[in-house]
Amino acid sequence: MSAAPKKSFYVTTPIFYVNDAPHIGHAYTEVASDVLARWHRQRGENSFLLTGTDEHGEKILRTAAANKTTPQAWADQLVQDSWLPLLETIDIDNQDFIRTTEPRHEANVQKFLQLLFDKGFIYQGAFEGNYCVGCEEYKTEADLADGEGQFDGIRVCAIHSKPVERLKETNYFFKLSEFEQPLLDFYAANPKFIQPESARNEVVSFVRRGLTDLSISRSKEKFDWGIDIPWDDSHITYVWFDALLNYITAIGYGDDSVEAQARFAELWPATVQIVGKDILRFHAVIWPAMLMAADLQPPTQVFGHGWLLVGGEKMSKSKLTGIAPSQITETFGSDAFRYYFLKAISFGQDGSFSWEDLSARYQSELANGFGNLASRVIAMIHRYFEGALPAEGDLLEADMRIKNVAKAAVETADKAIDEVAIHEAIAAIWTLVDELNNYITVQEPWVLAKSDETRERLQTVLNVAAEGLKTLAVLMAPVTPKAAAKLWVALGQSSLGDLSAQPLSEAANNGLIAGAAIAELEGLFPRIEVAETTSGAEKPGAN
Ligand code: MSP
Repeated sequence: MSAAPKKSFYVTTPIFYVNDAPHIGHAYTEVASDVLARWHRQRGENSFLLTGTDEHGEKILRTAAANKTTPQAWADQLVQDSWLPLLETIDIDNQDFIRTTEPRHEANVQKFLQLLFDKGFIYQGAFEGNYCVGCEEYKTEADLADGEGQFDGIRVCAIHSKPVERLKETNYFFKLSEFEQPLLDFYAANPKFIQPESARNEVVSFVRRGLTDLSISRSKEKFDWGIDIPWDDSHITYVWFDALLNYITAIGYGDDSVEAQARFAELWPATVQIVGKDILRFHAVIWPAMLMAADLQPPTQVFGHGWLLVGGEKMSKSKLTGIAPSQITETFGSDAFRYYFLKAISFGQDGSFSWEDLSARYQSELANGFGNLASRVIAMIHRYFEGALPAEGDLLEADMRIKNVAKAAVETADKAIDEVAIHEAIAAIWTLVDELNNYITVQEPWVLAKSDETRERLQTVLNVAAEGLKTLAVLMAPVTPKAAAKLWVALGQSSLGDLSAQPLSEAANNGLIAGAAIAELEGLFPRIEVAETTSGAEKPGAN
């Protein structure tokens, strides 16, 4: 009998504009998506993480021109020098990386457009309205704000604080208004489609206020950096209409090969699409309508996370508050980066970044809480048992408590991940870190080691503690992959098999083999000297 097919889990990040290098806001989206992907992989699912770059549109064209180069050369350079290296910097295990200038994307965007045109969902009309190149978005009066400083007296884009442009041209329109009711019905039938709840309510009331048709092309007379409209080469595709399709072109949409069709059938609809709240409407309104028009299913869930704030404002390069991810990882490492942003900020809400908070949590939670626990337990197994794991004897209440806390941590964390509550999952794992630290303090193995009479008790305590570490290594593998791998090797990878092969569901079951060699463990989170900082956005020691 053949094994049951693996459940598939398809998670996507937004694709990033290549007008500039990444900052930690972008890295935050990547890391959250990667933790989800790794978690599901650790569960034994066929987990697929897609990320990539959004390379067309006026914004990129202008940036390239300002840098005296072509948009393609500019995009190539940024992808090579900044966006691909970001994945290494923050340890992302993505299964694909799509660029919207690739033929596999461009050709199939055209197929999609042609299909919608043939089905009567696209028509030509006159467009007049406001456009923000920074957002690459058409703006209504409600999206504008009063300008300040040099823009005093002018209405500006509320996000970029810069004037919008007045457009008047003949464009092609997508009949978005026809999907108002189908979308409302879909939201009602799929209450988890938009998360968190506050984001869902916001989108539902937006759609209830009524949808207008969407201009999906721009005349080449204005600029030409985009995908040609297949039936009219005097127009290019609106960059968002092009960009949203990456989620399906990357997994084989439009490709007739057997492999591509099988991949598409396996992965679509996506399980969860992670986006920042600023781009939620594109993903929760326009995107599902586009898919419905093409008779494709919308994704199962779109999750809108909050913003990283610096000085109370959304961190951004254009407002000069951007911090490069490497500024953090060079000092603290990629594991700490991943842990910090996902633990300190409730996923779905905004969070303020500060170097002080990062340093404090690194020290107390990672170095002292987790790292020290692992080093101490392993060092004691070496000191008292020459590195051979002692067997467990009779279990007392305190030992059972650890095992129960471990079981509960696995269950609670696993459920939290299904709710995309990554911070809650990590908090659940930390109950075990805290409980184990407490256990070692109370059991005092160094005292038990002083007498032959308590030798058996010492064996049990160190066995229980090592099993607890084993649970932590499996649970933390998606969050801090490097530290978890080191711990796993120390615990005796040779007798346990690869960490990646350990099912999460069994993380709290006894799995270590008595007598097996435990290797020495170098510090998981080395001490870091941090200079006094004055501002939330300044780097420690970088004076
Ligand atoms: N190219 C579009 C997305 C197209 S998806 C089909 C885009 N790109 S972006 O580079 O501007 O932003 C990518 C992601 O980074 C968005 O999800 C955005 O919310 C996120 N972030 C940008 N700044 C951020 C913070 N300060 N904090 C958290 N996330 C932020 O939009």
